[in-house]
Amino acid sequence: MEEEHSIRMDPCSSGKDKPQADQLEFGRKFTDHMFLMDYTGEKGWHAPRIVPYEPLTVDPSAMVFHYGQSVFEGMKAYLTPDGDAQLFRPERNFQRMNHSNNRLCIPSIDETFALKAVKQLIALEKDWIPKAEGTSLYIRPFIISTEPYLGVAPSRHYKFIIILSPVGAYYKEGINPIKIAVENEYVRTVTGGTGEAKTGGNYAASLKAQEVAEEGIAQVLWLDGVERKYIEEVGSMNVFFKINGTVITPALNGSILEGVTRNSVIQLLKQWHVPIEERKISMEEVYQAHKNGSLEEAFGAGTAAVISPIGELVQAGDHLEINDGKTGAIAKRLYDTLTGIQYGKIQDPFGWVEKI
Ligand code: COI
Repeated sequence: MEEEHSIRMDPCSSGKDKPQADQLEFGRKFTDHMFLMDYTGEKGWHAPRIVPYEPLTVDPSAMVFHYGQSVFEGMKAYLTPDGDAQLFRPERNFQRMNHSNNRLCIPSIDETFALKAVKQLIALEKDWIPKAEGTSLYIRPFIISTEPYLGVAPSRHYKFIIILSPVGAYYKEGINPIKIAVENEYVRTVTGGTGEAKTGGNYAASLKAQEVAEEGIAQVLWLDGVERKYIEEVGSMNVFFKINGTVITPALNGSILEGVTRNSVIQLLKQWHVPIEERKISMEEVYQAHKNGSLEEAFGAGTAAVISPIGELVQAGDHLEINDGKTGAIAKRLYDTLTGIQYGKIQDPFGWVEKI
């Protein structure tokens, strides 16, 4: 397979202006270059290259536009106090990408090669990693099906692309607690669907609920699609509730995305001897805990969202304030520890960090 070949470099001669730290929105600006490679049935994955960032030329009949056969990932590059660039558990993102590929009938990628590609791209774009506290270079690897064909079948042609975006906080609230609405009408996915794959369709299906949610809601909280009872995830992050000293997060059930940050939170809590349970948790249980005063904290965890405290849950007109709308101690400790490791400010006892 040509994957073994080196990555062709075609750098651009002049660069774009970099955004100021106070103008960093999530995912609006992109760096000077991108990584690309192609797949055809005959050649497999081939022609890896780093080229100037520019619009793609894709046939209007490309299958991705019609049947949505696509997957993506989200990861970040961080700058350490010594000025080194580093990644956080990137191998897990490419493992998950192959898991998503399998669900969407997309040919798998060579995970080691993908990591090499991302490192080579970041090394070229290192000046784009923002320096201000809480900022990073967001990495978006994705695969689209490009065969020009309108029959419903797996495409025989694909493009694997990696683009980079200097980012600040994902939510406008920054690291302050956000307000989340529990979704009663729509569902994101069901077990057996595509929920545990990172594919665009899951996100398209989530937009309506977000659109009709009341003012001031950052995101919606999805319940299971069958009983409409059990908490699943928020869409941009996994969720955790601290009730009576125990942290509870919904167990992976085939419809919840297995977050890299989720897994890291679980490992940190275990290391700190904080009781952590992965199990079904219903909204009813959260209501009861709120009523009897044992709901201590709630927070979300994701690559883009990092650790986002949830200050208020809204369901059908009921408003549940959590921890007086303030950031809880566990959320704060997790945020400080995770970002400390990611930015190379504290020791990484887990071997999560990958230098570039
Ligand atoms: C991420 O956290 O990287 C994600 O992919 C969530 C996203 C939809 C912004």
